[in-house]
Amino acid sequence: MNADLLSTPQVAPSILSADFGRLGEQVDAVMDAGARVIHVDVMDGHFVPPITIGPLVLGAVADGIHEHGGLADVHLMIERPERHVEEFAKAGADSITVHYEATPHVHYALSKVKDAGCRASLAINISTPAEVVAELVDELDMVLCMTINPGWGGQKLVESSYAKLQRLRAVLPERVPIEVDGGIDPGTAPRCAEAGARVFVAGSYVFGSDDPARAYGEIVAALTERA
Ligand code: DX5
Ligand code: ZN
Repeated sequence: MNADLLSTPQVAPSILSADFGRLGEQVDAVMDAGARVIHVDVMDGHFVPPITIGPLVLGAVADGIHEHGGLADVHLMIERPERHVEEFAKAGADSITVHYEATPHVHYALSKVKDAGCRASLAINISTPAEVVAELVDELDMVLCMTINPGWGGQKLVESSYAKLQRLRAVLPERVPIEVDGGIDPGTAPRCAEAGARVFVAGSYVFGSDDPARAYGEIVAALTERA
């Protein structure tokens, strides 16, 4: 795994919207197009209503991600994530994101992620104030700012997210990148970049397209034009 990947802007395709019958092929397609961060959405039917994938599916795609020099970016939308960190690390996670709202022991959960040898990331929901991350800065390798309510792909980005990203950027040291997740496309990604985001998760825009590689490239191009 290339530890420096997150120091430059990255569009991270989310396999939540992929065709699971052709998952390996679809991941290869976006990685051949240049993607190096693959976002894996884990949902437990409690923290959010849907149940999606677990360590077995992560394990099935992780080798392919690593063979391309990429990073498996695992977003845990599960209650008490600290109880499951080790199994996701063993299955090939490079970065593990836990939700602030999913456990009363956020600091402990983040330290479990680090102990398991992964990058530790904290997600905050739309209604969670940006300032909560201040108490946890020393534990953080990344912050994921939800720009939709978690649980489903294909939603529209919530407009108040742009101002929140600016508040988050002001609280966080430069070394901690901000990832945005939800409603990212060639229109919203540059606006998020402007507000301070560096990693751009895109599910339905990429895998809802009949040409995921091209759709990935469109978001990269929109970000490059802005820069
Ligand atoms: C939703 C997930 C997202 C999802 C985003 O809870 O965290 O990663 O895949 O999907 P889009 O890009 O369609 O908004
Ligand atoms: Zn996600």
